[in-house]
Amino acid sequence: MNYSDIVMDHFMNPRNVGELENPDGIGQIGNVNCGDIMRMTIQVKDNRIADVKFKTFGCGAAIAVSSMVTEMAKGKTLEEAVRINQDEVARALGGLPEKKLHCSNLGTDALKAAVNDYWRKNGHPEKVVPLEDEHLEQEAEPQHACCHSPERG
Ligand code: FES
Repeated sequence: MNYSDIVMDHFMNPRNVGELENPDGIGQIGNVNCGDIMRMTIQVKDNRIADVKFKTFGCGAAIAVSSMVTEMAKGKTLEEAVRINQDEVARALGGLPEKKLHCSNLGTDALKAAVNDYWRKNGHPEKVVPLEDEHLEQEAEPQHACCHSPERG
């Protein structure tokens, strides 16, 4: 499968990997077909994405997509962030092979799920947007700090 240089760069050096402490919104979704899982955490300030991080258990395209989606989302208003779509992400990555286009929906939908989580928690359930693809929204609970403490190795 041929990947663009941009895809390879974001796969080899993914941006914004990890998990924010005390995130304002958490989106965790699973692809019903391939089983890949993506988790995004966002920090919101003045209705904008102030920071965003991701963890992806998935294919190389899904990792590159997550990295690109976090770059595109930073600084956008929440309403702009949920409008980032599969085509824009694929274009920004210099194209994706046809078979891997669905992976870009995993990225945009994980971001939507995180923003939806923020809206639900902050009294705006009417703003919640549908996911683009058939993804399983998983319980978006914060991970316990103890699981990540250095003492536990
Ligand atoms: Fe599952 Fe790419 S094959 S997200």
